[in-house]
Amino acid sequence: MQSLAILGGTGALGGALAKRLTAIGREVHIGSRDPAKAQAFAAELRRDHPDAQVTGSGLREAAARADIVFLTVPYAAHADTLKQVLEEVQGKVVVDATVPLRPPKVGLVQLPPAGCAAVEAAQLLGPGVKVVSALQNIGAEKLGSGGAVDGDVLVAGDESEAVETVRTILSDLGLTSWHIGPLANSAATEALTSVLIQLNRRYKLGQAGVRITGKSRSAASLQVTALAGLPLFAKDDDLASAIEIALGAAGERLQDGDVVVVAQKVVSKVEGRAVRLIDVSPGAEANDIAARSLKEPPLVELIVSESQEIMRIAPGLVISRHRTGHVLANAGIDASNVGEGSVLLWPEDPDASARRLREALQRSSGARIAVIVSDSVGRAWRMGTTGTAIGVAGMKPLRDRRGEVDLFGRELKATVVAVADEIAAAASLVIGEAAEGTPVSIVRGATYEADDETGVSELLRPLEQDLFR
Ligand SMILES: NC(=O)c1ccc[n+]([C@@H]2O[C@H](COP(=O)([O-])OP(=O)(O)OC[C@H]3O[C@@H](n4cnc5c(N)ncnc54)[C@H](OP(=O)(O)O)[C@@H]3O)[C@@H](O)[C@H]2O)c1
Repeated sequence: MQSLAILGGTGALGGALAKRLTAIGREVHIGSRDPAKAQAFAAELRRDHPDAQVTGSGLREAAARADIVFLTVPYAAHADTLKQVLEEVQGKVVVDATVPLRPPKVGLVQLPPAGCAAVEAAQLLGPGVKVVSALQNIGAEKLGSGGAVDGDVLVAGDESEAVETVRTILSDLGLTSWHIGPLANSAATEALTSVLIQLNRRYKLGQAGVRITGKSRSAASLQVTALAGLPLFAKDDDLASAIEIALGAAGERLQDGDVVVVAQKVVSKVEGRAVRLIDVSPGAEANDIAARSLKEPPLVELIVSESQEIMRIAPGLVISRHRTGHVLANAGIDASNVGEGSVLLWPEDPDASARRLREALQRSSGARIAVIVSDSVGRAWRMGTTGTAIGVAGMKPLRDRRGEVDLFGRELKATVVAVADEIAAAASLVIGEAAEGTPVSIVRGATYEADDETGVSELLRPLEQDLFR
């Protein structure tokens, strides 16, 4: 993988770029007029990501260390910075993010005589350097937040290969980019920055961006991948590191917006929720229900103790309201994929399990993700089970689309989508029920509302709304 330098990496845009690049494991060399300042910033980045491959140095040294050099300095320092690294960047790609703003009139388009800053850079560096222009319309704050960036990157360049190399890096950072043509077209993106500054001021937009429309809506896609190479889990195993190791072995990394769906079974296993039936003494209620359901009394004892309320009993079936509020068969207790004579209870608190896993995975990956603990659950009045969210962290489990308009402009009045259940169901297609041994799936591309507070209880219909009791 190419190493990257950011000249001006101690600043707003360069710093945000450096943060995002180190978070996805890229090798970054921060270049500054003051090497000590660059080193201090590199140390700061290493505090957030101890494994980060990041150095700080003077401009020439950083440029010399890298295959691709980003330039994020004020226009006043543009030519001078490029002249300093002229030798070091020969044969390399230089990604110019500079906007020729001339303070104080930064809301006025004032392009230089050569047409734009990127063309000036190309003229100054000579034919041995491939200059690509990018990132002029992305706010540093948005980029540095680590979250999804609401805006596209317009990339200009004369050499398609260099442009595509840069676009791949942008895509790895979670950014959508478009090749807008030759380097001279950078004039449009550079000019657009002043337009966005005007919009920010006039309409108090925060950091306005651009989004290219026209891409077919049907192009929306969802990637659901079972994670291969996970071990068999036992009590006290570290699920988060096992997931990180398996991702690494697959050459994958978590990205912002990913949803990690984990089968309840492995969460219960690592949390020590396996119970040997021989150790359970059934009480009178369990014995009575066991006689009516034709189930083993110790198993029924566990169902009773895991439930708020037993709702229906039939031969082979006990439907109950689990202590977490979910209504399902056998209180979610499962005997498959556990040792002989043992069964597995749901985690004590599936939301808390999801939260812990999310925190650990976010810490190690730097990506902002959501986690769902899922189980296969039957639905009232329908045959068959589907993957269902029983624990959620990092997302709103419901997507409230009321107030949006349909194709005919009619306002949606009642559309609230159980998006966490839909994601769990999609993941269950690859997670597998039986001997697949793939209890974790990464779902990429799902639309959901990120949220740190909400748990799965939002999906449970309040008792007072139950028309069938
Ligand atoms: N900020 C944004 O949201 C944003 C968005 C898109 C594009 N841009 C463009 O990206 C470039 C950098 O913007 P920025 O906001 O990141 O700028 P900044 O924070 O003011 O400066 C970036 C870095 O440039 C270096 N620098 C070199 N010569 C300088 C000089 N004469 N005066 C001040 N700093 C100098 C400084 O690093 P050392 O002191 O370490 O040398 C500084 O930390 C600009 O061309 C800007 O138009 C910015």
